[in-house]
Amino acid sequence: MTKKILFASVSICLSLLFYSSGAKTESAEIFKKEQEIVRIQMVQLSRELGVTCTECHSSKNWKDGSKYNFKIAREHMKTVEILRSSGFNGKKSPEASCFMCHQGKLKFASQMQHPEASTTTLEMQDSE
Ligand code: HEC
Ligand code: HEC
Repeated sequence: MTKKILFASVSICLSLLFYSSGAKTESAEIFKKEQEIVRIQMVQLSRELGVTCTECHSSKNWKDGSKYNFKIAREHMKTVEILRSSGFNGKKSPEASCFMCHQGKLKFASQMQHPEASTTTLEMQDSE
């Protein structure tokens, strides 16, 4: 009788051990996959801005978010998410990306003027 109970509890312990070690490797795999996704996303985003990793990161600590461009980039990643969830998802409209605005350049805002800003130039051209 006691032998049976002992056997049962040992086997429960063993199966728990196997289960938890299985879960561990599984979560490690998910972690690895997530890392891989981040890496691919980072390479892509760098290309779309025409920069290298250190424009936003310190190569000594990838988690350090103190660089100016890192902070802006995190905001703009949210912007891209919002655009994607509001129609720019690659179905009817093109899929939103950093490239959509940045066109391979980190600084480009001077090229994004509202047409009103250039009417005076147009008028001057007309009167010539
Ligand atoms: C334009 C800025 C920018 C560039 C360039 C960039 N990153 Fe990032 N990276 C970020 C931001 C912002 C986050 C945080 C994302 C978040 O919070 O969801 C991040 C997150 C990461 C993380 C995850 C850090 C963590 O907390 O675990 C890694 C690793 C990483 N980047 C590596 C790279 C590598 C490698 C490159 C070059 C191929 C690169 N990044 C290029 C802005 C950038
Ligand atoms: C809807 C248009 C738009 C999209 C999409 C966009 N950006 Fe931007 N980004 C801008 C504008 C405009 C500026 C300049 C004004 C500013 O700094 O906010 C800028 C500036 C930046 C800067 C600062 C550059 C500097 O040194 O002044 C970084 C870094 C940046 N964007 C990263 C990103 C990343 C990474 C993505 C994609 C996840 C992205 N942006 C998507 C419009 C956009």
